[in-house]
Amino acid sequence: MPVEIRPSMGLQDAIKQRRAARAFHSNAIPDALLEEILTLGVRAPSGFNLQPWRFIVVREQENKDKLKACAFDQQQVGQAPVILICCGDRKAASQENIEAVIELGTDLEAINDKYADYMRNSIPSFFENMPSFGSQEAWTNRHTMIAVAHIMIAAKSFGVDSCPMEGFVATQVKAAFNIPEDVDVCCLLALGFAKEPFKEYGGRFALDKVYFGESYGDKFII
Ligand SMILES: Cc1cc2nc3c(=O)[nH]c(=O)nc-3n(C[C@H](O)[C@H](O)[C@H](O)COP(=O)(O)O)c2cc1C
Repeated sequence: MPVEIRPSMGLQDAIKQRRAARAFHSNAIPDALLEEILTLGVRAPSGFNLQPWRFIVVREQENKDKLKACAFDQQQVGQAPVILICCGDRKAASQENIEAVIELGTDLEAINDKYADYMRNSIPSFFENMPSFGSQEAWTNRHTMIAVAHIMIAAKSFGVDSCPMEGFVATQVKAAFNIPEDVDVCCLLALGFAKEPFKEYGGRFALDKVYFGESYGDKFII
């Protein structure tokens, strides 16, 4: 019988209580719970639904230790029961992937022939011109990190803590985990049960510093 996985807190609390955990207990994340978190993570949106994110799920201690050595020896990499190597595949705009997305949408009756042709024609030229991003790597990062954010918040809602990390040497991670040339490593994400206390909450800038009204730099008044 499938296990029903229910969040232990609501969205507001999950967002407020999520903290970057630097130390983890060794307790495993139950498989059904991990599957639910990973499933919710990839409900993230992506341009044309191209879903460029790819994740290596690292659970074996030997591989965690190997990864830790590529990540400035950060202890959470060796401790957390699961580490995701969060990657973005620059081939997401290839004809092969476009066709895969069309097939997915067609099976769900979300894409008709007209829209499929629009995708086949417009996606390659969009990527040739790259009007809203400077490089393919920026594009894969943009999308992968949205999925990472989904994973962190979904995890927290089930009481699972996380730590996103950019402290790693990408060339070393790529070599150690057989990551192809045209796949970027966007971040590492530790998942598990934090050994509290977390670091003191560092705060967030006031809304009037980070939100502008109508034009960059103009005051936003709510
Ligand atoms: C993309 C990204 C990379 C990060 N890299 C690291 C890292 O390598 N090591 C680490 O301990 N924390 C890392 N952090 C965690 C941040 O330091 C932390 O999110 C920030 O200080 C705010 O704290 P909070 O998340 O607990 O609110 C990273 C966070 C993000 C979003």
